[in-house]
Amino acid sequence: MKVILVNGSSRPDGCTARALKEIRDTLNAEGIETLDFFIGNAPIADCTACLSCRKTGKCVFNDKVNEFASLAAEADGFVFGSPVYYAHPSGRLLSFMDRVFYSAGNLFKFKPAAAVFSARRAGSVASMDIANKYFSIAAMPIVSSTYWNHVFGKEPAEVEADAEGLMTMKNIGLNMAWLLKCIDCAKKAGIEYPVNEKLFTNFTR
Ligand SMILES: Cc1cc2nc3c(=O)[nH]c(=O)nc-3n(C[C@H](O)[C@H](O)[C@H](O)COP(=O)(O)O)c2cc1C
Repeated sequence: MKVILVNGSSRPDGCTARALKEIRDTLNAEGIETLDFFIGNAPIADCTACLSCRKTGKCVFNDKVNEFASLAAEADGFVFGSPVYYAHPSGRLLSFMDRVFYSAGNLFKFKPAAAVFSARRAGSVASMDIANKYFSIAAMPIVSSTYWNHVFGKEPAEVEADAEGLMTMKNIGLNMAWLLKCIDCAKKAGIEYPVNEKLFTNFTR
C-alpha cells in the first residue's frame, strides 16, 4: 500500500514539508510505503478549460500534473499539503489540483485523502474546506484527525515547537494507515466497490 505526499509549497524544506514528514514517518512505522511529490517552485498553469483532456485523458500542459497523474494511478492514498496564502491553499496547489482532478479524476475514486496546512497564524480551517471539496466530488474517503489539520509556523523550527500541530499530523498518519488496512481487508473479503450512478444535467431540464 502506497500513499503519495504532495508538497504544494514553493519551499521544498519549509513548514509544509515538516508537517508532511510527521505523516510520512507515521505511515512508514505502520508499514505503509510513501512517496514524496514536490510540485516545484516554477509557475504552474491554471486550467484553461480547453477540454483536450476529455479526448486524451491527459492535461494539455505536460508538466508536474501529468507526472503526478501517472504516479497516482498506482497509489492507494494521498496527502496534499500547502502553506496558507490569504486564508486559502497556495494558488500553485489549487491550479495543480484543478488540472489533475479535471483531467484524471477517475484515478482518485475510493482512495482515502487528507489535506494539511501550515500557517503563520490563521486561515488553515478555511483552506481545509476548500481542499476537502476535491476529495468529496471524487468519491474519496476523507481522512480526519483529532483537531484541524494544521501546524503553525513561518519557519520549520517554529513548526517543530508546535507539539499539538505535529500530534495532529501524526494522528492523520495513524488514521490513514488504519483506513487503508480496512480497505485492504474488505477487498480480500470480496467486498466490491460501489457502482456509482452518473447524471450531468447543468441544471437544465
Ligand atoms: C503570499 C503569502 C500569503 C500568506 N498568507 C497567510 C495567511 O493568510 N495566514 C497565515 O497564517 N499565514 C500566511 N502566510 C504565511 C505562510 O502560510 C506560512 O509562513 C507557512 O507556514 C509557509 O509554509 P512553507 O514554508 O511550507 O511555504 C502567507 C505567506 C505568503 C508568502
